[in-house]
Parts: sequence; C-alpha cells; structure tokens
Amino acid sequence: MGIESNWCSCTKCHAGYGWEDDSFDFTDKSGIDCLVCHDTTGTYAENKGSCGYPDDSVDLAEAAKSVGKPDRGNCGSCHWYGGGGNNVKHGDMGKALADPARKLDVHMGGLGFQCQDCHTARNHKISGKSNTSSVTEGTVSCTDCHEKRPHNASSPLLDELNDHCDALSCQVCHIPEYARAAKTTTLWDWSKSGEENKVLEQTDDMEKVLSRKKGLMVRKSNLTPHYAWYNGKHKRYLNGDPVNPDGVTQLNPPQGDITDPEAKIAPYKLMHGVEPADAELHHLIVPKLFGEGGYFETYDWQQSAEKGMAAAGLDFSGEITFVKTVMHWRLNHQVAPARQALSCLDCHGSEGVMDFRALGYDGDPAAVGGRRAESE
Ligand code: HEC
Ligand code: HEC
Ligand code: HEC
Ligand code: HEC
Ligand code: HEC
Ligand code: HEC
Ligand code: HEC
Repeated sequence: MGIESNWCSCTKCHAGYGWEDDSFDFTDKSGIDCLVCHDTTGTYAENKGSCGYPDDSVDLAEAAKSVGKPDRGNCGSCHWYGGGGNNVKHGDMGKALADPARKLDVHMGGLGFQCQDCHTARNHKISGKSNTSSVTEGTVSCTDCHEKRPHNASSPLLDELNDHCDALSCQVCHIPEYARAAKTTTLWDWSKSGEENKVLEQTDDMEKVLSRKKGLMVRKSNLTPHYAWYNGKHKRYLNGDPVNPDGVTQLNPPQGDITDPEAKIAPYKLMHGVEPADAELHHLIVPKLFGEGGYFETYDWQQSAEKGMAAAGLDFSGEITFVKTVMHWRLNHQVAPARQALSCLDCHGSEGVMDFRALGYDGDPAAVGGRRAESE
C-alpha cells in the first residue's frame, strides 16, 4: 500500500516537515502542524481532519494558547494509530501508553517518561531509527542511559546475563511478550475484502474478522516475539521491486547473522500480509483506496490498481494476483519490570522461546557453545 493517490487520508499523519524557519507563531497557518505536537488541550490532534488540516471543531486560538511540551498523547496521535487503528502495526505501541501501569512499561508507566526523554530532540531532529523509514535523525539505545553490562557482576548468575549482552539485545529479555495491553494485527489479507463485515472467531487473546474494506484481519495479544539477528540495518521493499511470486516477499528484513559481529538477536513482531501484485510484471500494486474510483468506494481492484499505479508512476499489466508478504516490526517499547525478564530456563529449558537452530546455532548454545565460545 502506498501514499500516492491516497494523499488526503494519509497526510494527516504523513505530514510535511516544514519547520526550517525559526518563527514561533503558533497561530500562523503555515506553522499549523506545530500544534499536533505542542497542543496540550488534547483536542487538536484527535480532531485532525483530512490533508493535515485541523477539524473545524478545533478552537485554534485556544489550542495555540495552550502550547507546551509534547506529551505521549501528542506523539501517539500518529504513532499509535498507523495502519488504521489502535496498536495495529507496532504491537508495542498503542493508546494504553497514554496512562500505562508500571507492569506494562516501566519507563512510561512507573517512571513517567515522555517519548522525548528517550527520543531526545535537538532542533526538532527526533532521534530513533525505525525499521521502515529512510529518514534517520540519530539513534536511541537502552545503553544511552544504562550500562553495557547492567547486571550485578558480583553475582555469577547475574554476570552471566552481562556476558549475554554481546549476542542479545536488551529488548530480547526485557520485552518478553508484546501486545500486552491490546490485540495487534498479525495477518492482514486484502484478498478477502469486498465481503460483508463479520466476526469469524473471538477469544480473549485472538480475533478473526472480515472487513468489507480491508479483508481478513487476525489480531492477537500476549505474543512471544519472533527473534532475528539485527545489525542496525533493514532492507526495504521499494515501489517497483520484484516480489517473490511463489513464496513470501520480505518487505523489510533485518540484516545480519550469527557471523556478523555487529549483529545481535532482537525481538520482532511479524506482520503477515496478502497484498495485490501485478501478475505479469511481478511487483506490488499501489491501489487507490480513498476517494473517487478508490477501492473503498468501488470494491473494484482493477480500477483502483489502474488509478493507483498511474499516480505512483508504475507499470501495470492489467493482471492482478495476490502475494504473501511479511514485515518485521522491531519491539522497543513496553519494557516489563525486571523480575519479569526472561531468565535462564525461559531460553535454555525444554520449552525455550528461541529457535536456536533457526538463528544459526547447532543446538542449545548452553550445551554446544555460542559464538562467545568460538571466538575464545
Ligand atoms: C493515524 C496516523 C496515520 C495515518 C492516517 C496513516 N499513517 Fe502511515 N504511518 C504512520 C506512522 C506513525 C508511520 C511510521 C511508522 C510507525 O510508527 O507506525 C507510518 C508509516 C507508513 C509506511 C511505512 C511503514 C509501513 O507500514 O509500510 C507506509 C508505507 C505508510 N505509513 C502508508 C500509509 C498510507 C498509504 C496511508 C493512507 C492510506 C497512511 N499511511 C496513513 C501513521 C499514519
Ligand atoms: C513531531 C512533533 C513536533 C512538531 C510537529 C513540532 N515540535 Fe516543537 N518540539 C518537539 C519536541 C519533542 C521538543 C522538545 C521538548 C522537550 O525539550 O521536552 C520541541 C521543542 C520546541 C521548542 C522549545 C525549544 C527547543 O527547540 O527545544 C519550541 C520553541 C518549539 N518546539 C516550537 C515548535 C514550532 C514553532 C513548531 C512548528 C513549526 C514545532 N515546534 C513543531 C516536537 C515537535
Ligand atoms: C503528525 C503525525 C506525527 C506526530 C504528531 C509524530 N510523528 Fe513521529 N513519525 C510520523 C511519521 C509519518 C513517521 C514516518 C516518517 C517517514 O517514514 O518518512 C514518523 C517517524 C518517527 C520516528 C522514526 C524515525 C524516523 O526519523 O523515521 C520516530 C522515532 C518518531 N517519529 C518519534 C516521534 C515522537 C517522539 C513524537 C512526539 C514528540 C512524534 N514522533 C510525533 C508521524 C508523526
Ligand atoms: C525508554 C525509552 C523509550 C521511550 C520512553 C520511548 N521510546 Fe520509542 N524507541 C526506543 C528505542 C530504544 C527505539 C529504537 C530506536 C533506534 O534503534 O534508534 C525506539 C524506536 C521508536 C520508533 C521507531 C519504530 C520502532 O518501534 O522501532 C518509533 C516510531 C518510536 N520509538 C516512537 C515512540 C513514541 C511515540 C514514544 C512515546 C509514546 C516512544 N517511542 C517512547 C525507546 C523509547
Ligand atoms: C532515557 C534513559 C533511559 C533509556 C533510553 C532506557 N532506560 Fe531503562 N531505566 C531508566 C531509568 C532512569 C530507570 C530507573 C532506574 C534504574 O532502575 O536503573 C530505568 C529502569 C529500567 C529497568 C528496571 C525496571 C525495574 O523493574 O526496576 C529495566 C529492566 C530497564 N530500564 C530496561 C531498559 C531497556 C530494555 C531499555 C531500552 C529499550 C531502556 N531501559 C532504556 C532510564 C532509561
Ligand atoms: C539474557 C537476558 C537478559 C539480557 C540480554 C539483559 N537482561 Fe537485564 N535483566 C535480566 C534479568 C533476568 C533481570 C532480573 C535479575 C534479577 O533477578 O535481579 C534483569 C535485570 C535488569 C535491570 C534491573 C537492575 C538489576 O540489576 O536487577 C536492569 C536495569 C536491566 N536488567 C537492564 C538491562 C539492559 C540495559 C540490558 C542490555 C544492555 C539488559 N538488561 C540485558 C535479563 C537480561
Ligand atoms: C533470551 C534467551 C536467553 C536467556 C534468558 C539466557 N540465555 Fe544463555 N544463551 C542464549 C543465547 C542466544 C546464547 C548464545 C550466545 C552467543 O552466541 O554468544 C546463550 C549462551 C549461553 C551459554 C554458552 C556460553 C558460551 O560459552 O558460549 C551458557 C552457558 C548460557 N547461555 C547460560 C545461561 C544462563 C545461566 C542464563 C541465566 C542466567 C541464560 N543463559 C539466559 C540465550 C539465552
């Protein structure tokens, strides 16, 4: 899915970043997007209408008078709702972070952190690398604040945790489960769209729904992450890149493996998709979703593909098929209290959470040795 041809519905969050000048007039129309982060009335961001302009119901003068430092809700007005609803994409970020319990997030809950306490912003360059976007304005890391060997070294068992930090990122042990406050979408199958809205299955931890607009969605909560090596880089699928017609197309696979000294194991949410692709030219289709002739109006893939592909400047053979995709969403938020962290048996026990062979080990490294042993 892409932004081209869907401008207005998408740009309320995918805003133009035009704050190069240093005029601090918060009522000036040209600086209107200041309020999405600096309004403290809580009315502005939630009522932002199409195309990035605020809804008529917002009292701009009131909002402008209320200007203050951003709180979690300001940032969350975009980041918690990507993908068209609460917690849809990330799984570790949703509206529960407005007022989280400590057990959900020790930093934003117990310690009252705002987003920018970790995502430090200098001259509006907000640090923090994402796994999907190309712009990076600096990185954020747990060890910006914590020691690289943060566990009590005088205890042999805790010092063993320190030794693990060369191969495992902090998040692996300290975000043992994700989607702990709300379900997150794990499968989005666009090929099943066009039918009546229907709940197919629902339990406390899972729901399967058919949406006429969006197709089949599976949402789950309290999930064990997928683990993969990550050296700080992700590949990204770009418009026009070939898809894997018979298998699964990786949209943003993390880079690095067991032999890469820069890489550590990191926790991920996997988001599976079934998306329209060009059956002859083998690239993904950017459909027009919103507005006149858009899929959400016509339920006609053919027409929305023609319009969308033209807007995106991509070739379209006229033949549509559906292909499987997968996205990796890195888990960085909702750090649990220390005593809930994964410990020895959670990984090295018989029901361990890690598939060591898939990660490149010959078996459980506590038995066969890890890369630490090899480098000695
Ligand atoms: C509620 C706010 C919001 C709306 C509306 C929105 N996005 Fe996004 N989108 C985001 C945010 C925030 C990100 C950055 C990653 C993140 O934090 O989820 C993002 C990232 C993306 C990405 C890159 C990552 C990915 O998921 O592939 C694409 C592509 C994207 N959006 C497409 C769209 C399209 C197309 C629309 C309109 C149909 C749209 N977005 C509407 C908030 C939004
Ligand atoms: C994406 C969110 C975001 C947007 C949009 C935004 N700001 Fe900010 N702004 C921040 C953050 C984060 C800080 C740092 C707050 C802190 O120190 O805790 C900040 C700080 C400031 C400060 C304090 C001085 C400084 O640089 O630290 C001023 C003044 C300011 N912003 C003005 C503006 C103006 C004017 C606009 C519109 C042109 C704007 N901001 C748009 C997030 C934003
Ligand atoms: C108006 C909607 C909006 C608001 C408000 C907003 N963001 Fe974003 N943010 C986005 C979108 C969209 C992206 C993806 C940018 C892209 O892919 O080009 C993004 C990207 C990011 C990234 C990923 C790094 C990067 O440079 O791509 C971080 C970190 C981030 N935002 C943090 C914050 C913080 C912290 C705040 C509050 C101070 C905030 N955002 C407020 C929409 C928003
Ligand atoms: C305790 C520190 C901390 C707090 C608080 C925090 N983040 Fe993050 N966040 C991180 C770290 C660490 C990363 C990974 C960044 C990197 O690799 O450069 C990250 C990454 C991100 C990304 C990139 C996508 C991803 O998940 O990998 C976005 C977007 C983001 N944070 C938004 C937010 C928003 C919005 C808030 C407030 C609701 C917030 N963060 C609060 C630590 C924090
Ligand atoms: C901006 C600074 C900052 C960043 C970044 C940060 N932390 Fe913290 N963290 C703190 C502070 C301050 C405390 C409270 C004092 C302490 O326990 O060290 C804390 C506490 C903790 C605790 C102890 C919770 C408990 O039960 O007592 C854990 C675990 C933790 N952080 C893990 C992480 C992880 C994992 C990351 C990266 C995703 C991270 N931190 C990023 C500042 C930070
Ligand atoms: C292999 C799993 C694992 C890794 C990797 C890991 N931790 Fe821990 N961590 C734990 C466990 C388990 C505890 C609880 C220890 C206890 O019972 O006292 C803990 C405790 C903590 C505490 C609480 C203070 C303390 O000494 O008890 C902090 C803070 C912390 N870890 C931060 C981090 C940071 C930062 C990283 C990355 C540099 C990290 N951890 C990597 C498993 C891990
Ligand atoms: C989150 C999963 C996880 C947890 C929790 C964990 N381990 Fe490990 N352990 C690993 C991985 C992965 C390796 C391989 C590390 C490497 O390649 O260096 C490893 C390696 C080892 C090794 C072999 C080290 C070597 O010489 O190569 C031993 C022994 C070990 N772990 C014991 C422990 C003990 C004791 C604890 C609890 C204090 C613990 N592990 C907690 C995943 C884990």
